[in-house]
Amino acid sequence: MEGINKRYNSPYQNYYYPYYFQVRKNIINLDKRLLVSNEFSGKRALVTGGTAGIGKAIVSRLLEGGAKVMTTGRHVGNDYQNPNYVFVRSDLSTANGCSTVVNEVMSHFGGVDILVNVVGASSAPSGGFSVLTDEEWQKELNINLMAAVRVDRGLLPSMLKQGSGVIVHVSSIQRKLPLYEATLAYAAAKAALTNYSKGLSNEVGPKGIRVNSVAPGFIETTAAEALIERLSKQMESDIVTARKALMKSLGGIPIGRPGRPEEVAELVAFLVSDRALSINGSEYVIDGGTIPTT
Ligand SMILES: NC(=O)c1ccc[n+]([C@@H]2O[C@H](COP(=O)([O-])OP(=O)(O)OC[C@H]3O[C@@H](n4cnc5c(N)ncnc54)[C@H](OP(=O)(O)O)[C@@H]3O)[C@@H](O)[C@H]2O)c1
Repeated sequence: MEGINKRYNSPYQNYYYPYYFQVRKNIINLDKRLLVSNEFSGKRALVTGGTAGIGKAIVSRLLEGGAKVMTTGRHVGNDYQNPNYVFVRSDLSTANGCSTVVNEVMSHFGGVDILVNVVGASSAPSGGFSVLTDEEWQKELNINLMAAVRVDRGLLPSMLKQGSGVIVHVSSIQRKLPLYEATLAYAAAKAALTNYSKGLSNEVGPKGIRVNSVAPGFIETTAAEALIERLSKQMESDIVTARKALMKSLGGIPIGRPGRPEEVAELVAFLVSDRALSINGSEYVIDGGTIPTT
């Protein structure tokens, strides 16, 4: 007992060891509940692409924290019965779609405190560089780079005026670890997004606005689950084998599983919170260790 208590050197060190851990766990849970319930109250947030996958988890997390949250999608919004939730239907791959969202943010919220650019996708055909026409390149650049550039440009003036705000760009580990078969243009656009994010942080950081990027690895969203299911049918195997095959195609995931949307949302919630006030111009990789080098 004595050895254990010495090792943990805590205010509970005279208590019985499992009891100490139970008390500590309760305190952590209490802290978490307090943070979740009010850390974003009074904040106005825009999360692009928040009706599915990572974006949906971020919307939920910010709503739980008390923020007012607007999100976008081309189809239907989430079924939240929350007065703090606003959905705007818009296609962010076009300049007009981005203007619509910026206008809606300004008319509903009068500005924004938190901007999370989640929208991104790849629809290019497989077949490597030779099948990527100018049109295909432009499509990938529009949704993976220009959507964020346009929405930022529309909303930054109000952030600059208030002298505060925080922006997160969701890129991908493909910006460092590009695959070429079907996602070469996507990877290049994400690399541009990361570079743009860093440059922007240098420009607006001194004016009170923090800008960071988050680079997820394989995250098991509904779309990814559907892909695994398709793969399992193609391979005539079960889901577990198909998931393993997909992970192997990335060179493996050291933690042994893909990430979860909620885990990315937790990282984003931290970055946009006041707990991260000195974090600016950084990239956070969340990939279970997929990228083999630092
Ligand atoms: N999942 C992963 O493994 C992974 C890995 C690395 C990076 N990422 C990045 O993480 C972000 C989210 O990915 P995800 O897998 O969570 O996506 P997802 O599940 O496919 O969800 C995409 C969201 O964006 C919306 N959206 C898509 N295209 C849009 C458009 N043109 N205009 C407006 N809204 C649009 C979708 O709604 P509608 O369909 O209704 O438009 C939906 O709300 C992306 O930037 C992606 O590149 C994902």
